[in-house]
Amino acid sequence: MLPIYEKDRAVTVRPACAGDAEAVRAIRNHAIEHSTALWTETPQSPAEAEAWLARHLERGSAFVAEAGGEVTGFATFAPWRELEGYRHTVEDSVYVREGRHGLGIGSTLLATLIAAAREAGHHLVIAGIEAGNGASIRLHERFGFEHAGTVREAGVKFGRRLDLTLMRLALD
Ligand SMILES: CC(C)(COP(=O)(O)OP(=O)(O)OC[C@H]1O[C@@H](n2cnc3c(N)ncnc32)[C@H](O)[C@@H]1OP(=O)(O)O)[C@@H](O)C(=O)NCCC(=O)NCCS
Repeated sequence: MLPIYEKDRAVTVRPACAGDAEAVRAIRNHAIEHSTALWTETPQSPAEAEAWLARHLERGSAFVAEAGGEVTGFATFAPWRELEGYRHTVEDSVYVREGRHGLGIGSTLLATLIAAAREAGHHLVIAGIEAGNGASIRLHERFGFEHAGTVREAGVKFGRRLDLTLMRLALD
């Protein structure tokens, strides 16, 4: 558990539990509806959110930030690609609740996630970031992720094509 201080409220990062599904869904759906961080325009239903989180809980790859009893962010890692040759490579995901950005919560979540991925024996963490997402690129640079290239026009959302910046962090 890693305590930081968000203004006057202590923020704690802890492993996620099944009871966090709704709070995580709300943060995720806000990003789906209002940003190009997640490249889908379809919000998660409660059942989908439960199933999605349950897969993470099985492998211990989901964490939440909590302040004053409220979930203020979450982070996960998941297999980057399915074939077994990629088994030591995971992709990360970090989301902070709207209104709580820029307070260090994303950094605390990512620090915990990197430690957990290393503990789980993974070799590489990859971040796939919409090229215009300066906050996420800066967050990952801060932890030593290096730029691995940008795939132009890799996706589409809100009627425009999006470029995907890949960043990598070797853990051992
Ligand atoms: C990206 C995100 C997780 C960062 O979390 P955060 O709690 O706001 O970040 P932190 O406060 O820990 O700051 C991390 C670094 O990013 C920088 N940063 C934060 N917001 C920024 C912004 N809007 N533009 C540029 N840099 C920014 C901070 O200054 C800090 O860098 P520094 O140490 O050099 O000062 C958060 O902004 C977020 O949830 N965004 C929406 C969802 C998203 O884009 N997720 C990532 C998908 S790839």
